[in-house]
Amino acid sequence: MARLKVGVLISGRGSNMGALLEACANPAFPAEIVTVISNKADAAGLATAHAAGVPTAIVDHRNRSREDFEAELNAALKSAGVELICLAGFMRLLTAGFVTPWYGRLINIHPSLLPAFQGINVHARALAAGVRFTGCTVHFVRPEMDDGPIIIQAAVPVAPGDTPETLAARILVAEHRIYPQALRWIAEARVQIDGNIVHLAGARAVEEAVINPQ
Ligand code: GRF
Repeated sequence: MARLKVGVLISGRGSNMGALLEACANPAFPAEIVTVISNKADAAGLATAHAAGVPTAIVDHRNRSREDFEAELNAALKSAGVELICLAGFMRLLTAGFVTPWYGRLINIHPSLLPAFQGINVHARALAAGVRFTGCTVHFVRPEMDDGPIIIQAAVPVAPGDTPETLAARILVAEHRIYPQALRWIAEARVQIDGNIVHLAGARAVEEAVINPQ
């Protein structure tokens, strides 16, 4: 069966892109990454993609209108034959003009349990709020920032003495698990959007409450 063609957009480190690349390195995985595009020429993730033999491109957002930037991004994705876009630490807001035509074929990972803690500085804000769990979310992208139907979440406990850095590191491990999982489900055509709700064919929920602290 043909593998789903994925384009990954990054701005920096690209560890989530790396997790997706690793999953796609298995020929039995139902998706393949056909392009990695960064808006920043110095994004460390570009070297990772290059080393994996994936074509990369830079689409600079500076000194131009958003429309112009997004038109070039769209053209690059189209010419690579992309069927699904994965945002992976892509630090540009995308306008409705870009998002709407891709709706249902554009996903993002965010390091909180959405809809809590949208935006930036999420780990410091979670610690300041005193939550016992935070986590990460893979969701379909709508034009509003960090908003859209939720595909999968991982709840990650906050530990005594956590700093934003230690909490981020714990959540990142979970991000690297759930992003390839979400991609697999979409590529297997098991995911259907129904308003705000994502239906996953064959989904099994976790059966018990997870309690923190013990
Ligand atoms: C991740 O925490 C992701 O959830 C957020 O930005 C960070 C990107 O990290 N959107 P990386 O570039 O994937 O390592």
